[in-house]
Amino acid sequence: MSKLPIIGIFDSGVGGLTVLKAIESQLPGFPLIYYGDTANMPYGDKSPDLICRLTRRIVRFLRDQGAEIIVIACNSASAVAADVAVEEAGPGVSVVDVVQPVVDHLAQRSDLRCIGLIGTRATIQSGIYQEKLRRLRSDLEVRALATPLLAPLVEEGFAGTPVAREVIRHYLKNDLFRPIQCLVPACTHYPFLYDDFNDFFWYKVEILNPPEIVARHVKRRLEVQHQLDLGLSHHLLPDQTAIHLSMLTPGFMDLCHKFLNKKASIQETFLLN
Ligand code: DGL
Repeated sequence: MSKLPIIGIFDSGVGGLTVLKAIESQLPGFPLIYYGDTANMPYGDKSPDLICRLTRRIVRFLRDQGAEIIVIACNSASAVAADVAVEEAGPGVSVVDVVQPVVDHLAQRSDLRCIGLIGTRATIQSGIYQEKLRRLRSDLEVRALATPLLAPLVEEGFAGTPVAREVIRHYLKNDLFRPIQCLVPACTHYPFLYDDFNDFFWYKVEILNPPEIVARHVKRRLEVQHQLDLGLSHHLLPDQTAIHLSMLTPGFMDLCHKFLNKKASIQETFLLN
């Protein structure tokens, strides 16, 4: 089998690891490079302009490291900087954002009539999910709320604690969410809070799993664009995951080792511009 393409993945912090893990399980053995911009976390409260500038330099870094496919594993950057990422990546590098695959999935879900959407301010205020869904599924009611405290809580290791459950209650007890059938966690940090969301809704509301949806999309993209026959041969390759952070933070190191269940090599790589 010819050399497997390197997959570059980035986020502001640990959130993108939820996408990385889903990609690892769909595409075991693929070389992965992860960039976590921990020095600039959270992205969700930054201006679109600043998010675009941060995105540009990470995309450039991943491209220079040889990535042939770059996954923007951050909803905030996907919402406001997807075009910038494509432009910076240039020809020959494909870019996947985390919004479109989830919108396409929801567009197919004719069983759904009313959904809740939560994410950072950057994502919710961009209106990208609401607009894309209005075009594809005008009958689907989307109830959206920015929940800006949740990503920092996860980054600091508070998922699964009473503090996280209280903050979730504060946001979700809102009448806005009373009739929803499905909650869309439109921030890659939120999968760390699945149990807390399920506790809040008493398991009566479906919690969507965007990392799975995005990973399946990446696999299909590789099969079609790179004409890869994703048989079993790559299973034999050794695990090759390199993680770069703009700042080594105890929160990231701790969560990363626990969540990925392995000792990943993590190094500090500060990008100047
Ligand atoms: N995980 C990111 C997202 O999906 C960013 C969270 C943040 O840095 O605010 O939006």
